[in-house]
Amino acid sequence: MNWRVKAAIQNTLAKLPPALANPAYYWLQRRMGNMRRIDPTERVQATLDFCEMLETAGASPVDGRFLDLGTGWRVNVPIALWLCGARSVVTVDVNRYLKPALVRRDVRFMHEHRARLESLLGARLYQNRLDALAQLDSRSWQIDDLFRLCSIDYIAPGDAAQLPFESNSLDFEVSHMVLEHIPVAALQAIHREAVRVLRPGGKVLHRIDLSDHFQHSDRTISPLNFLQFDDDEWRTIAGNRFMFMNRLRIDDHLRLFEEAGLRVVSCRRYEDERGLAQLDGASFHVDAQFSGKSRSDLATTAAWVVAEKPAS
Ligand SMILES: C[S@@+](CC[C@H](N)C(=O)[O-])C[C@H]1O[C@@H](n2cnc3c(N)ncnc32)[C@H](O)[C@@H]1O
Repeated sequence: MNWRVKAAIQNTLAKLPPALANPAYYWLQRRMGNMRRIDPTERVQATLDFCEMLETAGASPVDGRFLDLGTGWRVNVPIALWLCGARSVVTVDVNRYLKPALVRRDVRFMHEHRARLESLLGARLYQNRLDALAQLDSRSWQIDDLFRLCSIDYIAPGDAAQLPFESNSLDFEVSHMVLEHIPVAALQAIHREAVRVLRPGGKVLHRIDLSDHFQHSDRTISPLNFLQFDDDEWRTIAGNRFMFMNRLRIDDHLRLFEEAGLRVVSCRRYEDERGLAQLDGASFHVDAQFSGKSRSDLATTAAWVVAEKPAS
């Protein structure tokens, strides 16, 4: 879909009361957006990546107490963490977007494509847990049955900047494609809260999508398209709750972690070739606010960050 048309639809929907706008937006996402296909394996793969990064950083997901920031519509990352040995996962969202019907389809997919899940998760898989998930799906079940089985606690509405937990009570915080949607001041508060609730040595793991999300459904534009606009123009185009993107670059995120007191342990980043070529060309101009940044920081469109609460 042409990105300008999509932006106009989102702006229009955002003016409606949430009780009308949310179901309409969900309907659009299911028919034309990124939820057309039901396949939880991408989130399972993302969870595997989290586990690998944790291990490279000298920690293990097994028996870990996790916080998943920004649940969204489904709980595939929390389920996959549990399948990989997590003790518990609290998943928090300011919006109560979760769709039990979609979760049901994800669990059915995991049941029906069991061999694929087994080969994907390999030695990380707790086979008895996958057995239990398949058993659950063989009978009639409610979302609370799934949460009880997988030790998932869903808190929504709940703000990751104000968590109802004691200090030093969690091992890990993860997020999958969330940080790019949160305004800077809220991000700063979320990182400070992570420092409070994590135990010393506890870690945050964030997968951040730094591309212009309009490009996901309109391949005629570049993943750096949104860097061309100044803040006022961009607010007019996408300053609504359905498509808010903070446009922070990876160097900004790394700085925010450090400023909050989280030590960055590793950052795996992907630089977009098309974006790099555009930056070198004559016809693509980034807005003045981005002009001091390196080519690499501008063209990094995906990143995996591990940061740690110092032990003392
Ligand atoms: C892109 S969506 C969810 C993505 C989901 N993790 C996934 O992988 O599909 C981002 C979510 O973050 C939530 N969110 C934004 N600010 C938040 C905050 N301060 N605390 C908790 N959740 C927040 C939004 O409501 C939204 O559901």
